[in-house]
Amino acid sequence: MFNSDNLTVNEQGRLCIGSHDTVELAKEFGTPLYVLDEDKVRQNCRGYKNAIDEYYGGKGLALYASKALCTMYTARVAAEEGLGADVVSGGEIYTLKKAGFPMEKVFFHGNNKTDDEIELAMDCGVGHIVVDNIYELDRVNQAAAKRNAVQPILFRIKPGIDAHTHDFVRTGQIDSKFGVALENGEAYEIHKYASTLKNVSVDGVHCHIGSQIFDVTPFCEAAKVMMNFVADLRDTLGLDPKILNLGGGFGIKYVEGDDPLAPVDYVKAAIETVKEVAEQRKMTLPFLVFEPGRSIVAEAGITLYTVGCVKDIVNVRTYVSVDGGMSDNPRYIMYGSKYSAVLANKANEENVKKVTIAGKCCESGDIIQENVPLPEVNVGDTLAVLATGAYNYSMASNYNRIPRPAMVAVKGSEKKVIVRRETYEDIIKNDII
Ligand code: LLP
Repeated sequence: MFNSDNLTVNEQGRLCIGSHDTVELAKEFGTPLYVLDEDKVRQNCRGYKNAIDEYYGGKGLALYASKALCTMYTARVAAEEGLGADVVSGGEIYTLKKAGFPMEKVFFHGNNKTDDEIELAMDCGVGHIVVDNIYELDRVNQAAAKRNAVQPILFRIKPGIDAHTHDFVRTGQIDSKFGVALENGEAYEIHKYASTLKNVSVDGVHCHIGSQIFDVTPFCEAAKVMMNFVADLRDTLGLDPKILNLGGGFGIKYVEGDDPLAPVDYVKAAIETVKEVAEQRKMTLPFLVFEPGRSIVAEAGITLYTVGCVKDIVNVRTYVSVDGGMSDNPRYIMYGSKYSAVLANKANEENVKKVTIAGKCCESGDIIQENVPLPEVNVGDTLAVLATGAYNYSMASNYNRIPRPAMVAVKGSEKKVIVRRETYEDIIKNDII
């Protein structure tokens, strides 16, 4: 019935996440409220780890792409499950460091890392910097030289694979701001240049073709292109990059009709391709890295809201306004993303009409979803939007000076606040004059 098997309906007809009644959670912690099912997060982490162990003898690592949901708590959960992490900013590095994350298992991404961020990464002992371009290569080399160090790096490569997903999250094609392209020789040239530098060691290559992808084919194509490129680097420049990082992007179920594969399916398919090319080109098998973000946390999360008003505009539409909106979930306004929603206190009742769920921001476009089938909605009902664990809290803002919601983690019968609700004091804390 729901996107994810951790959601059920109890005897009172209320939506439950794990063993927790969401209406009670809303009462206890207030709304809007992000709820994260920690057991589900752990299960998803294990899906990747076990697949690498089983099909690749453990010669690889899944990195949690922390941009999907970066908190100290989620960082610790990922670390406990044996994952590494992908970070893209000083803020994410700082969060992980403070959480006690094993920084040697961190890969630092981004198309325009600042000098300060590069220094911070080195101060914190980030294992690998994924270098995006030649300017950054020089900066990383200089920063390492100042410390008399050799910084392990990978290069971000555009493999020329066009993943069929939303334009804003397609990154494998030549027209992308990320990385260096293969087809115009840029990727080859940067490796050639790097081999002359003393303070970087090129440990591997990286690509990430996009996000919310349901098909294994583009991943396999990317793996093939990347493996052949590694073999070419060996044959032409005598280089031996040992790490092949294939990025993330594995799709999840937001609505009926989304048909995602299990982590093991992506991992297994990529591994088969890697092994095939390794055999053809007589290569040793690389250390394989995957970077799932959304597929670790999205389905583990829901957002609870309270309905504040219902406007039935005859022959037009029904607006159901909730106490959050684009400030806690900007994905509909940004990408037209689809979501499923449930009236948590009437989870067994029949749907009677399609409504538009609107937020409270001073913006007509502040919509969470349109055409959502729901039972009769009344003021005071608790509305749950499903699969909001990824790219909701991490993309939330204080637009209209709305404080960000709290986040509660549930695990078995336990529940705890892992991110406290922002206060109005938090809102003004940087206004110094
Ligand atoms: N690795 C790299 C280098 C990435 O850029 C990303 C996502 C990932 C891994 C993780 O991808 P995932 O497994 O989560 O699909 N804000 C957008 C998604 C942006 C994804 C950015 N990069 C959204 O809300 O759909």
